[in-house]
Amino acid sequence: PTAKAADARRSIPYGSAVRTDLLVTEFDYRAAIVDYCQLVVGEGGLKWFDLRPSQDQFVFDQPDRLIAFADQNGMKMRGHTLAWYGAMPEWTQTIGSAAAAERELVHHITTVVGRYQGRIPSWDVVNEAIADHPESGATIRGSIWQERLGKRYIELALRTAAEVDPSAQLVINDYNIENPTQQCSDRRQALLDLLRDLKDRDVPLHAVGIQGHLPGDMDIDRDGLSKFVETVKEMQLDVLVTELDVIDNKLPAFEYDRDQLVAARAREFLEAIFDAAQPSAILTWGITDRYTWVPMWFKRDDGKPNRPLPLDAGCRPKALMKVIEEFTRA
Ligand code: G3I
Repeated sequence: PTAKAADARRSIPYGSAVRTDLLVTEFDYRAAIVDYCQLVVGEGGLKWFDLRPSQDQFVFDQPDRLIAFADQNGMKMRGHTLAWYGAMPEWTQTIGSAAAAERELVHHITTVVGRYQGRIPSWDVVNEAIADHPESGATIRGSIWQERLGKRYIELALRTAAEVDPSAQLVINDYNIENPTQQCSDRRQALLDLLRDLKDRDVPLHAVGIQGHLPGDMDIDRDGLSKFVETVKEMQLDVLVTELDVIDNKLPAFEYDRDQLVAARAREFLEAIFDAAQPSAILTWGITDRYTWVPMWFKRDDGKPNRPLPLDAGCRPKALMKVIEEFTRA
C-alpha cells in the first residue's frame, strides 16, 4: 500500500508544518506531504509578520495557496497563529494604547478567521503565552498584547475567534512543558492556572496544543506530562501535539544512532501523553530534515546537519516516522 492508503487507516490524524513556497519548487517535498499527511499547518504565512507588512494591508497569498493545496489533496489545514509575541512586524510597536491594541487585535482576528470561516477547523489562537520563568510571579509572557491589555488579551482573542467562526477548535499552544526541570513544572502549573481561569469564566476554548520541541539529550518528565494531560482532560479540553521534533544538537554524530535516539525520545513523549489520553492530532514541525528551523537555534558543533524530523533530507522515512505511524494507526 502507498503511504496515503496507509494513512486512511490512521485513527489519529498526522500532519506537518509546511513551507508553502516549496510545494511548487520541490516535487519530492510536495509528494512527501501528500503521501503522509492528513493535516497541514503553515510554518509561516498566517503569522503577523507575513500577513501584515503594514497596518492597512493583509497579504493572504501563502495561506490561500496552502488551503487550496490541502483541499485538492483531501487534507485539513490548521491555522497558526493569531496572538503571539513572535514574528511581529515593526509597525506593531506603534500600537500605543489599550484601546488601540484591542481594536487592532479584534480587527486582525475578525479579518483572518473570517476569511477562512468554516475552512480552517482548528486555530492556534494564542501561542506561547506562558512566561519562560513563571516563578518570578509574572506568569504571562511579555508581548505587545500583554503590555497594552494585560492577560485579558487571551480572553479577547478567544472570544473574538469564537464569534467569527463558532465551528472552529480554539487552541492555546505552548512549548517546554515536558522536561524534568523545575522551570517546566512551573510552566505547566502556570498554564493549568490560565486554563482553569478561562474555563471558570466560560471563555471559549477547546484544546491545548503541546508543541513538543524535545531536547534530545533530556529525559521526558513522564509523570509530570501525564498528570498535565489528565488535568487538561478533566477540564473538558482536548490535547494535540502540534510541533513535534527532536533537537539533536547534543546527540551522537553517527546518523543511525542519532535517528534511534531521536525516535526513542519521541516515543517516550508520546507514551506519556497516551498514558493519560489520546491526542486529537499529531503534527511534526516539518517533515524532512532538509527543511527545519532547528539549525537556526541549535546547530551542531561538528557541523553535521540536524536530523530532527520523520524523513531524512532525501525524504526517506527514518525511525521517527515508524514511531509516529505506530501511535497514529488504528
Ligand atoms: O522569508 C525569508 C526568506 O525570504 C529568506 O530567504 C530567509 C533567509 O533565512 O529568511 C526567511 O524568513 C525566515 C522564515 O523563518 C522562513 O524560513 C525568518 O527569517 C525566520 O524568522 C522564520 O523563522 C520561523 C520562526 O518560527 C519565526 O516565525 C521558523 O521558520 C519557524 O519554524 C518558527 O516556528 C515556531 C513556531 O511558529 C512556534 N513554535 C516554535 C517554532 C520553532 O521556533
